Amino acid sequence: MIGRAGEIADAIREESNIMIVGHADADGITATGIIASALEREGIAYGVKIIKQLDEDALSEIREANYPLTAFVDLGSGVIDELDFKRVVMDHHSPGGSDQKLHLNPHLFGHDGSTELSGAGSAYLVAKALSNRNSDLSSLAIVGAVGDMQTKSMGKLISLNREILQDAIKAEKISLIGDIELFGRETKPIHKMLEYASDPIIPGITSNEAAAIAFLNSVGIELKNDRWRRWVDLNFEERGRVVSALVKYLIKGGYGKRARRLVGEVYIMVEEEKGTELHDAKEFSTLLNATARYDMGEVGLKVAMGDRGDYLQKARSLLSGHRLQLAIGFDVLREIGFVNGKMVKYVHAGNAVRDTLLGTLLNMMLTSGEVERDKPLLGFAESDDGKIKVSSRGTKELVDRGLHLNEVMSAAAQKVGGIGGGHDIAAGATIDVGKEEKFLEVAEEIIDGQYGRAI
Ligand code: C5P
Ligand code: C5P
Ligand code: ZN
Repeated sequence: MIGRAGEIADAIREESNIMIVGHADADGITATGIIASALEREGIAYGVKIIKQLDEDALSEIREANYPLTAFVDLGSGVIDELDFKRVVMDHHSPGGSDQKLHLNPHLFGHDGSTELSGAGSAYLVAKALSNRNSDLSSLAIVGAVGDMQTKSMGKLISLNREILQDAIKAEKISLIGDIELFGRETKPIHKMLEYASDPIIPGITSNEAAAIAFLNSVGIELKNDRWRRWVDLNFEERGRVVSALVKYLIKGGYGKRARRLVGEVYIMVEEEKGTELHDAKEFSTLLNATARYDMGEVGLKVAMGDRGDYLQKARSLLSGHRLQLAIGFDVLREIGFVNGKMVKYVHAGNAVRDTLLGTLLNMMLTSGEVERDKPLLGFAESDDGKIKVSSRGTKELVDRGLHLNEVMSAAAQKVGGIGGGHDIAAGATIDVGKEEKFLEVAEEIIDGQYGRAI
C-alpha cells in the first residue's frame, strides 16, 4: 500500500491546482482536511467539494470544473471505472471496478475497509508519502475511523488503523485510555450521560433521568459542585466506582453482554481542551457529522483544519439540532415500525426522516435492542431531490454468516436503474420513487443466496 500511496503522492506533486472531492460525513471531512492541509504545506492550490454521493450529476459538475487533477477521498472506488479524467482516489468502500491505477483502497491489498482503514486513513497514507511532517495529521485519520464506526466490530482500532494510531501517539496528538465508552463523557452532566446511554442501553436508567440520578446517589457520587459535574470531572477512583456499580447492575439484570461494551478504548485529542466536543475523538466525529448531514460539511472542514472560532460555534449549534433530530427520528421509526420480511427487517419513513440520518438511525435501532438483530435492517426515505434513499445496516454476526450489504445495495439498485454501494456491514443506495418493492424483492433474493454460499 505504501508503494501505491507514493505513486499518488508523486502524481499530486506534479500539479499546481487540485480539486478535492470528499464524502459528506466525518470520515470524508477529515480525509478532505488531511489532503487540504498536506497540499497547503506543499504550496499547491486546491478547491474543495463535499458531496453526499458520486452520482451522474456530481460527476458532470466535477468534469465541468475541469481541474487538471481531481483527488477523491472517502469515495470514488464504487464508480472507479467511470472516472474517465485525470484523478487519484483514496477510499475504503468496496471497489465497483478493477482499475487500480492511482487508486488506494485497503480492499485492493487484502484488507477490510470497514474495520482496518477508513477514507481518512487512506488519505493520511498519501499525506505521509508526500512528507513525513504530515504525521501530525494522523489524529484526524483517527477521528475519521472512529466516525465511521470502525471500532464497532472489535471494540478498538485494529490493523492499519492501529498503525496510524501509533503515529498519532508518537506525535503526541492522541492518548489512549481505557474508560467508559458512553457518548458525552466530555460534555454532558454525568446523570445526563447515563440517561442518554444508547450503546449499550442501560435498562431502567436509559431515558429515565430520575433513575440515573438515584443510581449515582446510591454510589455516593456528588452530582454538582459549582456546576454539574461531567464524567471528565470525576477522579479515577470515582470513575471506577461508577463503572463497577454499572457492571454489577447490568449483570444482575441479565445484561452481562452489554456490560462488556461499557468500557473500552477511548481516543483523546491531547491538544484540545478537556470537557469540549473536540477532546474525545468520538465526540469530535459526531460534531463533524452534525455539519455534513445538513449540507454544511464546509463548516466541519474548517473545524477539522483548526478553526476554533466562528465555525466551531456554528458546528456546535448544528450539533444540538442534530441530537434532537436523531431523537425525533428514532421515535418516528419506532412508531412506523419495522416490517419483518423474509431476509430483512425494513421500514419506509417517507418524508418523516431526513435521508442523511437514516443509516445512523438504523444503527441506533440495532444497538438499542429495540429490534431483533437476526436480520439486517433496511430503511427507505424520500430525499431532497425527489428520489428514494435506501440505507442498510447489518451486524458482525450476520457478516460472518456471509451477508455483504455492498453487493446487495449495488446489485439491487442496478436492477431498478439506481446506484448503490458501501461496505459489507453498512451500505446505501438511491433509486427512483415507486421502485421500492422491486428493490426489496431483489435484495431479499440476493441475501438469501449470500447465506447459502460457502465463505
Ligand atoms: O461512507 P462511509 O464509508 O464513510 O461510512 C461508513 C458507514 O458504515 C458509516 O455510516 C458507519 O456508521 C457504517 N458502519 C457500521 N458498522 C461498522 C462499520 C461502519 O454501521 N462496523
Ligand atoms: O448513506 P448510508 O449511511 O446508508 O451509507 C452507508 C455506506 O454506503 C456509506 O459508506 C456510504 O458511503 C455508502 N454508500 C455508497 N453509495 C451509495 C450510498 C451509500 O457507497 N449510493
Ligand atoms: Zn468512510
